[in-house]
Amino acid sequence: MEFSTSTTTILHTLKTQALAVGVFKDGSLSHAADLLDQAAQGAIRAVAQTEFEAAPGNCLPLHAPAGITADRVILLGLGDPEKLSATTLAQAHQAFAAYCARAGVATATSTLCGLDCPGAAVADLARTAARLVSAAAYRYDRTFSQAKPAVKLRSFTLHLSRSQAAQAKPGLAQGAAIGAGVNLARLLGDLPPNVCTPTYLGQTARDLAKQYKTLKAEVLDQKKIEALNMGSFLSVAKGSVQPPAFIVLRHTPGQTAARKAAPIVLVGKGITFDAGGISLKPGPAMDEMKFDMCGAASVLGAMRAVAELDLPREVIAIVPSCENLPSGAALKPGDIITSMSGQTIEVLNTDAEGRLILCDALTYAERFKPAAVIDVATLTGACVIALGHVNSGLFTQDEALAADLLAASRQAQDPAWRMPLEDAYQDQLKSNFADMANIGGRPAGSTTAACFLSRFTGKYRWAHLDIAGTAWLEGKQKGATGRPVPLLVQYLLGQSQA
Ligand code: BES
Ligand code: MN
Ligand code: ZN
Repeated sequence: MEFSTSTTTILHTLKTQALAVGVFKDGSLSHAADLLDQAAQGAIRAVAQTEFEAAPGNCLPLHAPAGITADRVILLGLGDPEKLSATTLAQAHQAFAAYCARAGVATATSTLCGLDCPGAAVADLARTAARLVSAAAYRYDRTFSQAKPAVKLRSFTLHLSRSQAAQAKPGLAQGAAIGAGVNLARLLGDLPPNVCTPTYLGQTARDLAKQYKTLKAEVLDQKKIEALNMGSFLSVAKGSVQPPAFIVLRHTPGQTAARKAAPIVLVGKGITFDAGGISLKPGPAMDEMKFDMCGAASVLGAMRAVAELDLPREVIAIVPSCENLPSGAALKPGDIITSMSGQTIEVLNTDAEGRLILCDALTYAERFKPAAVIDVATLTGACVIALGHVNSGLFTQDEALAADLLAASRQAQDPAWRMPLEDAYQDQLKSNFADMANIGGRPAGSTTAACFLSRFTGKYRWAHLDIAGTAWLEGKQKGATGRPVPLLVQYLLGQSQA
């Protein structure tokens, strides 16, 4: 898709198939809507004040309005004019993009990023708009016998003043790259687990490295993983006939000056199917455990955006990937395993497997002397109970890192909420037979999972994102969301300013 800005002042002569303008719930019009209304001799205001309910997320198309060149003017609800926010505009752009996809629109223009929005720069509004429009063009079609018609939208333009346009341009490019990263993460999540195996994720990393010359991929096989003594990761993998893969994808910036800072490492949980192992999960909705690799998908999606933008900062993605299945060769409750760090773990529940594969990846990350390590995982059902499907859970004891990630989350319209991670919770992991148990009981389940991971992160700054509630949608809309790619890339953009 093409993303551009237009600064023509004569809005009513703009040629586009769909032109988005804002309307507030008191019936007042945005500046752009008002200009069009004058050209259309009051036709827009009349509709805005009668049949349109201008709540955020609502839209109403007006076809071929007299006096206006655009094929359609799309009214978008902005709610209360006193409460206009970047979130409202994101809701409006999501509705606009969904309309364009549905209606077969090929060229779309939005005036919404020109609105004065407290707390958000034009570049932020443009970035989010471009990301949402890219994501609206996603259609899963890999495993149908008949091809699905592709979304027709091929050009998205922001109508702005000259000075706003200059600020919006980098935001648009970033949003397009983030959108493509989101869509890669969604595709990997949506693919069935008999296609999206650890080997497939490894191949995806290799394909990215072929596509972008700043990326280098390395996929370690069973033998190399054994040589590294990743006893914890391998204990999960051994119940499956699918071979495990340990994926390292590294972005080295084109600009040599940008290579000096210590790298930022992203770690993604890559369980391509989680049946629970011997501690077998119940049957209903077990298919959704194909999404248990969404942490991996999000870090690969983020790397695609990082490479597309040639971010001036070294970034390394690490993905431990395997299946968690019951079999005669599978890990058992009671087994004690030795992690790459040397610490021993008593496995009390084989369904708490995410932490078992992540802990060895976190130990492996030490070799890069990272400036920070962020892991992303569909780690606990408890996090879904705590935060629902709105916020990803953020766990860290590093105040500055928490502040940076929460700021990125807000700026990217990709919500996250800080969760507790005090040492007082560590007691729940006590084992009579090993250095630690792999579960801490029902109380504060997402925090004790994070406590477990924290024991492998002593050598660097670290944060953990639990995306169990945000990585995919359930029910009729079942499908991966691509979260938290926008948050991750926003954080990395912030860490790349010279
Ligand atoms: N992948 C699951 C977590 C999960 C469950 C994500 C439901 C999204 C929806 C993870 O491997 C798991 O099974 N966790 C267990 C841990 C428990 C045994 C301590 C859980 O949350 O039930
Ligand atoms: Mn599990
Ligand atoms: Zn899992």
